[in-house]
Amino acid sequence: MNTPSAGSVESKFGHSEEGSHDQERTGLDCVQEMSDARAENNDLRSFGRRRGRKATLRQRALLDELLPRVTIDPDRLTASGVHDSTDLAALCGSPGSQVWLEIGFGGGEHLIWQARNNPHVVIIGSEPFEDGIVKVLTAIESGGLDHVRLFADDVRPLLRTMPDASISSEFILFHDPKPKRRHQKRRLIGPALIAELARVMRDGAQLRFATDIGDYARTSLLALNENVNFEWCAKRPIDWRERPTDWPPTRYEQKAIREGRRRYYFQFRRI
Ligand SMILES: C[S@@+](CC[C@H](N)C(=O)[O-])C[C@H]1O[C@@H](n2cnc3c(N)ncnc32)[C@H](O)[C@@H]1O
Repeated sequence: MNTPSAGSVESKFGHSEEGSHDQERTGLDCVQEMSDARAENNDLRSFGRRRGRKATLRQRALLDELLPRVTIDPDRLTASGVHDSTDLAALCGSPGSQVWLEIGFGGGEHLIWQARNNPHVVIIGSEPFEDGIVKVLTAIESGGLDHVRLFADDVRPLLRTMPDASISSEFILFHDPKPKRRHQKRRLIGPALIAELARVMRDGAQLRFATDIGDYARTSLLALNENVNFEWCAKRPIDWRERPTDWPPTRYEQKAIREGRRRYYFQFRRI
């Protein structure tokens, strides 16, 4: 087992760098139930607003009719006896497939790109922001994305119901838009989430994490390296300074570039 020490982290990081679902339930029913579940587990809210612009009639129809059909429902995971990755892929309608998970997909650029380029993988996306959900629903409706499943809420209640060793790739990209100190306790990446990721990820699975907040990059890196189940894949600084070619840009990354912020692209392996 190769777990980098805090020293090796610093040397690589560098001190000077800154579905199937009951048809009668609507998407909003699901959101409300998950909010209740989150309250029971005392998760501090890690995301901002749920709604932006008022949905048009067309978007409302997608939320009310398509979202329930492609929602992955934690209650259903528990009730249907989903024990492993095979069960999870079968529940999502793609028996035998790998399952990937993106947390906080925002406008869905990365999720849609990955889904188009990996048609044989089930891709689950979790995002509480309605405008982002609508973007991915619109892409699903255009066709070719039957292997995408959505959870329109905080990912944590979903993660808690996922079977052990069921996820082969995990993406968390620029999920925290709030660099202020008073928001730090709301950050998603910490020992609790990392332990849950270690449980649901298979051996050899990859975790990709990006941020444009230097202090969050450092604390997340240290927390991940403290967990014996994760190994940092970077060999040289360029490995975390530049985005790999099979990792498409996202809207928030473009904003960070426009506003002159350094981006950090971390890749870990579940060991
Ligand atoms: C700054 S945006 C970035 C979106 C996208 N990943 C990108 O790079 O453009 C962060 C997103 O993470 C979502 N988010 C934050 N905490 C979350 C959580 N606990 N579960 C699911 N999504 C979350 C927010 O709703 C928001 O849309």
